[in-house]
Amino acid sequence: MSETAAPHKVPVTVIGLGNLGRALAETFLTQGHPTTVWNRSSGKADGLVARGASRAATPTDAVAAGEIVIVAVLDYDTVRELLLPTAGVLKGRTVVNLTTGTPSAARALGAWAADQQAAYLDGAVYAVPQTIGTSAAFVLYSGDEAAYRAYRTVLDAIGEGSLVGPAPELSSVYDTALLSGMYGMFAGFFQAVALAGTAGIGAAELTPPRWSGG
Ligand SMILES: NC(=O)c1ccc[n+]([C@@H]2O[C@H](COP(=O)([O-])OP(=O)(O)OC[C@H]3O[C@@H](n4cnc5c(N)ncnc54)[C@H](OP(=O)(O)O)[C@@H]3O)[C@@H](O)[C@H]2O)c1
Repeated sequence: MSETAAPHKVPVTVIGLGNLGRALAETFLTQGHPTTVWNRSSGKADGLVARGASRAATPTDAVAAGEIVIVAVLDYDTVRELLLPTAGVLKGRTVVNLTTGTPSAARALGAWAADQQAAYLDGAVYAVPQTIGTSAAFVLYSGDEAAYRAYRTVLDAIGEGSLVGPAPELSSVYDTALLSGMYGMFAGFFQAVALAGTAGIGAAELTPPRWSGG
């Protein structure tokens, strides 16, 4: 149990302690949730354990410890590899998968979770690890509405959340569309800078503060 844990706090498990997962686990510890962590490279849990997290020996032990099971790993192949062996302990839990992936992978994982009688939420995180747990982070969720309503206050610790619909794949659809827009804007900006550069105008000179500065 974390150093600030309160008895009524929902036990949370975080599987995957990369850049995102570590920030998530730190946030849940800060909020006082009993937090269990598992990572392939066990050493990445050391700092969290020092703060009060429990280190699970296996993904199955990790799932068994959490009412909410947050997953943030490389890709959906990894999510499946880790979660499939946990099927026996998933019943009644809520899986919140924040791993980036395709809509079809999210749909399939949601169906599999339903077969295990687990609630499933898929999430797209709009943050960098440094902004997790601040008002600069937001997360789009899709999937089990009842689970989202039940755990909304817990999940809102990550950043402002929004449920975009009941189909598990919807957050991934939004994510793909929004990232397409973002990368398109980046490409447009780089083109604008290149164009201005041909006249000796630097990127900073193209920005509004320069204009308003007179
Ligand atoms: N970083 C962000 O701000 C951010 C924002 C939005 C979405 N996301 C998404 O969140 C997910 C995680 O991102 P990240 O930045 O935390 O990535 P990361 O720092 O590269 O961490 C990857 C994680 O996946 C684990 N992993 C990789 N292959 C594995 C395998 N075969 N078996 C078990 N575990 C494996 C790694 O374990 P080891 O430590 O053992 O290598 C590590 O915990 C990605 O899908 C990413 O797109 C990240």
